[in-house]
Amino acid sequence: MNSDASAKLEALRATLAAQPAVVVDEAAPVVDAATLPDDHIVCHCTNVSAGELRMLIHEAGCSSLDEIQRATRAGGSCGKCVGLLTEVVDIELGRACARR
Ligand code: FES
Repeated sequence: MNSDASAKLEALRATLAAQPAVVVDEAAPVVDAATLPDDHIVCHCTNVSAGELRMLIHEAGCSSLDEIQRATRAGGSCGKCVGLLTEVVDIELGRACARR
């Protein structure tokens, strides 16, 4: 993860720990990272979909969030997707490990 995305993620975690109601958007749809359809756009700034993340992990052999971010730049602009991006990548890396 690049330093800008890491800093934003840490700031979000700190805010969430201190004031959960400030961060949680109750109007936002509930998203399950494990079952997102492949065409679901995870990072709107870079137009990276869940399917592209899965392809990078399961077919191209990316093995870390950092590699994914270098390949796609996902999460490196506004940072709003970093939480979901991290969840999808963690889940898919776990699935990839289970297959090996
Ligand atoms: S939505 Fe991913 S960086 Fe903006």
